[in-house]
Amino acid sequence: MASSGPALDPELARVVPGGVLVVDFGAQYAQLIARRIRECRVFSAVVPHDAPPDQIAALHPKGLVLSGGPASVYEPGAPELNPELLALGVPVLGICYGMQGMAQVLGGEVARTGTAEFGKTPLEVTSRDGLLRDVPMEQCWMSHRDAVVKAPDGFVATARTSASPVAAMEDPARGLYGVQFHPEVVHTPFGTDLLKAFLFEICRCAPTWTPVQVIEDQVARIRAQVGDARVICALSGGVDSAVAALLVHRAVGDRLTCIFVDHGMLRMNEGEQVEEAFGTYFHVPLIHVKAQDHFVAALAGVTEPEEKRKIVGREFIRTFEQEAAKLGGVRFLVQGTLYSDVIESGSRDASKIKSHHNVGGLPDDIAVELVEPLRQLFKDEVRVVGEELGLPERMVWRQPFPGPGLAIRIIGEVTAERLEILRQADFVLQEEIRRAGLYRELWQSFAVLPAVKSVGVQGDERTYAYPIVIRAVTSDDAMTADWARLPHELLEQISNRIINEVAGVNRVVLDITSKPPGTIEWE
Ligand code: XMP
Repeated sequence: MASSGPALDPELARVVPGGVLVVDFGAQYAQLIARRIRECRVFSAVVPHDAPPDQIAALHPKGLVLSGGPASVYEPGAPELNPELLALGVPVLGICYGMQGMAQVLGGEVARTGTAEFGKTPLEVTSRDGLLRDVPMEQCWMSHRDAVVKAPDGFVATARTSASPVAAMEDPARGLYGVQFHPEVVHTPFGTDLLKAFLFEICRCAPTWTPVQVIEDQVARIRAQVGDARVICALSGGVDSAVAALLVHRAVGDRLTCIFVDHGMLRMNEGEQVEEAFGTYFHVPLIHVKAQDHFVAALAGVTEPEEKRKIVGREFIRTFEQEAAKLGGVRFLVQGTLYSDVIESGSRDASKIKSHHNVGGLPDDIAVELVEPLRQLFKDEVRVVGEELGLPERMVWRQPFPGPGLAIRIIGEVTAERLEILRQADFVLQEEIRRAGLYRELWQSFAVLPAVKSVGVQGDERTYAYPIVIRAVTSDDAMTADWARLPHELLEQISNRIINEVAGVNRVVLDITSKPPGTIEWE
């Protein structure tokens, strides 16, 4: 049959064989399922629900999982399950919407029962002959309004809840399985066991997706892509560009040159840490461009947040291009694009709250081919690969740091003097958070320097100086965040130290705003 629907990433042909594909009926669920499968050491990638079945078959997956989704199968325009996906000769597990789609196309019955189920729900397993044989489930996590009320011919119902007569069903002869609940969420006890039963007993997958394998695989792929050409990489100090650079360095050695532009908006000692890790320890050819004065001059008099972002972004690219041109003969550029970026770029919400300047976000007209060794990895997998490659813990577990750096944590004008105040205060805060063992628990923790001064008294002297704001949040993905309840003793210690150690500060305040309504950064 001729292909229709979106073409799949050609890279998948190399990585999918032996793995399991998640067919996406609602992005948020699909990504999580893929992560859970990978945690079982089986490669998994997400494909759109309207991907051509012949292209999916050509990738030779060992199984398919049909994801949940927000729609009702009867809604006009709801994503449709292509029945050909159920006849590719590999086992299929439908989850929630995926199971309902399966029931619908095979002649079962899906209906709005009048009783929605959300959250933890008691589950009665009625048959342990198949998928649920070794899964001692008594509870599951549900999120649905519609339910399968009659399984299609050939299926047996294997579990039920008070509102779902068919909470799980299977037709082992055809290799088709469905669950109404969500085994991928942590609130379904033994959910991972269910996924493992599907992967290992039904699909007969092998648990071979490991960091070591990822490294070997990527090194071979990079060598094949790059041949004996020269490659450049922009290092930001963050984990993604660092891991990408190390993978490429392993593949092509000194034909890689890393360019690290110190734009002066970095935190204390950050430039030295990158220099030490890459130049001294890994012996990666490194150009450390010390452009602090240039950036401070470019930002002089600018107070508007978006303007600051644009200036840092523009000057960063200019500086990088100048250095790349000096090298000459460069044909490839390394980027630390992650799998979540790849998935999201298809469905990214157009509403722009802040224009994020990513240090990796280089212009389209740059005449180089991209090398993206992390395109198939989630952030936590990148960290594991980084650890395996020997990247220092400080870099592997670094909290996210925005591309424009301290420029958007200094409210008002960015000057060398104000940068120094914020850098010192932030250093104290980081040190105390680490000492308290909270660094990894927090999504981000940092200091902000507002553009006001207040009166204080130190010794016998009246002071008129800046406050420092403590910002610490917990979050899973930065889309929402909760202000962190830091212990009072820790806050006291941070406050005392900042006021005693940082000249120009006489007051410390705590930001207790979650996101929404606040954003994580102040600008
Ligand atoms: P907000 O402040 O929008 O931030 O809640 C969400 C996450 O994005 C980071 N952030 C940026 N990252 N360039 C980046 O690379 C930027 O311009 C930028 N602005 C915000 C922020 O640190 C948080 O993790």
